[in-house]
Amino acid sequence: MKIIKLKIKTFTQKYSIFIGRNLVYKISKILKNNSIKYNKCLLVVDKNVPNKILNKIKKSFKNKKIYIHFFNANEKNKNQKNVDKILKVLLEKNFSRKDCLIAIGGGITGDVSAFVASIFKRGLQFINVPTTLLSQVDSSIGGKTGINTTFGKNLIGSFYHPKLVITDIDFLKSISKRDVICGYGEILKHSLIANKKFYKYLEKNSTKILNLKSPFVEKSIYESCKIKKKFVEKDEDEMGFRKILNFGHTFAHSYEASLGYSNKLNHGEAVILGISSAIRFSHENKLLNIIDYNSILKHIKELKLPSKLSEYFSLRDISKILSFMSKDKKNDSEMINLILLKKIGTPVKSKVYTKKYLKKFFNQILIN
Ligand SMILES: NC(=O)c1ccc[n+]([C@@H]2O[C@H](COP(=O)([O-])OP(=O)(O)OC[C@H]3O[C@@H](n4cnc5c(N)ncnc54)[C@H](O)[C@@H]3O)[C@@H](O)[C@H]2O)c1
Repeated sequence: MKIIKLKIKTFTQKYSIFIGRNLVYKISKILKNNSIKYNKCLLVVDKNVPNKILNKIKKSFKNKKIYIHFFNANEKNKNQKNVDKILKVLLEKNFSRKDCLIAIGGGITGDVSAFVASIFKRGLQFINVPTTLLSQVDSSIGGKTGINTTFGKNLIGSFYHPKLVITDIDFLKSISKRDVICGYGEILKHSLIANKKFYKYLEKNSTKILNLKSPFVEKSIYESCKIKKKFVEKDEDEMGFRKILNFGHTFAHSYEASLGYSNKLNHGEAVILGISSAIRFSHENKLLNIIDYNSILKHIKELKLPSKLSEYFSLRDISKILSFMSKDKKNDSEMINLILLKKIGTPVKSKVYTKKYLKKFFNQILIN
């Protein structure tokens, strides 16, 4: 496969995303070719990245001073305690702003590492090497960093762009089927909010994508990245347009938080469940027509993606879900804002809804 280069140009930053195979073995060379200079480098590595690959990455840095910090990626560890641990390594090894931090892992490793890079001496050079489908199609692009607290998901964070994103599709060979599905959730979201033609492509080729078949997986990663690029470039700080990327996410984040970020429901699975809730809410509120609603629902059900809220929650959980929804950072008060769908490819920012209104909606879903 030829290496694909996508350029992200925001108001404050310009950087490239390289998408290809066999790229990580050349990381050091790619940094050099892109004029990224450093004296030393900390690799924050997801502990599930296969050793064989890590050894080759280490080799690519011969003659360079590198340190490795292993990270046990899960939502419970996406917290201040782990940020402090990484900061301690950087301080002990006397890193300067001219050095470099490279995240090699999924969205959790990337979000935590980018947050650390953004606060260490007010900004350390950051490179993202995403190793899951979700991080390759979504979280590695756009500069959002963040950690969780007991008050909710990603409530502490910053906007901090990487200097470079290196997306090596070969990493996907070792991720679990469950994590492929999680990434597919964000790919599906991108198609629904921006591109009906891409949605039709997914309808036709979803099984091949989920089985990571070439060239279908490459095409879906590339198309997804292009959609994310469009939103990020137009609205870097998420003041308006970019909020559309949160389609399904106000529901998703509150589902994850209500389950205490347990691995019963991973982020990507919560997103698919959130999309199911958002399309149903859109349809019941006379926004989304029945043909598009049924098409999306059929797509989700045929692929056996998470869609049944009652498999995770009971009526007893509604007040907890609503409380997290109103604390979501997209909301200004007790009223809840949602991104909804008018038709496939056409999202809408909703009017605000009260908790009482949403309570009725959840009651209905969980009873039927
Ligand atoms: N910053 C953003 O814009 C943004 C966007 C979307 C999602 N996110 C965040 O991304 C996170 C989810 O990311 P994720 O789905 O990648 O989860 P993750 O980072 O937890 O990775 C999923 C699992 O895959 C394992 N893994 C990673 N790479 C592997 C590899 N190559 N081989 C084998 N196993 C591997 C990890 O150890 C983990 O168990 C959430 O916290 C979400 O909030 C951020």
